[in-house]
Amino acid sequence: MFEGVLHNSMMWKAQEQKAVEFRMVNLRDFGLGPRKQVDDTPYGGGDGMLLKPEPLFAAVADAKAYTPEAKVLLMTPRGQRWKQATAQAWSDSNDDYIFICGRYEGVDERIMTVVDEQVSVGDYVLTGGELPAMTIIDSIVRLIPGVLGGENSAAIESFSDGETLEFPQYTRPEVFNDMKVPDVLLSGHHAEIAKWRDKNSLKANKE
Ligand code: ADE
Repeated sequence: MFEGVLHNSMMWKAQEQKAVEFRMVNLRDFGLGPRKQVDDTPYGGGDGMLLKPEPLFAAVADAKAYTPEAKVLLMTPRGQRWKQATAQAWSDSNDDYIFICGRYEGVDERIMTVVDEQVSVGDYVLTGGELPAMTIIDSIVRLIPGVLGGENSAAIESFSDGETLEFPQYTRPEVFNDMKVPDVLLSGHHAEIAKWRDKNSLKANKE
């Protein structure tokens, strides 16, 4: 799942610039027995399978061997909601992060003894932690100076000041299917344009 995302242009450029480095650890490599088992049924009954502790602990130890100081994150809807401000703070830091991507119905609770933070990307349940991890990684990496391409789009965009959503934007042509670009944007009056943009920035309606 990660290949496509980590090899896309922005993420690829960041790696080529040595702004970020990824190392993938496959839980299956630490599976038990000839079938490389990584999951099992929950004690006490219930539907679904849980990720077993042995492969999880071994995989985290393997990741820690490369980045001993890394913060260990568990992707879970129970976690702290991911925020732009955290993306900015982590992007500014030189820290390493280990993302544990839970799958199936959950993970054995004992993994919490090695988890530093639980992180959620929203109040909905996905089938695994891979998409949340990729979402978080993307939001951090694109803020590394030089990765977006020099323009100040990261600074003016949604959420960068914590509450403003990006203003509407238009490109050529001036008229498309009878829909015209607002005159003020064609006027060349920078102060008027700035006023219009401020007025048309939605205020975020989020907790
Ligand atoms: N795993 C499943 N759902 C999730 C979510 N909303 N956030 C983080 N990890 C998850």
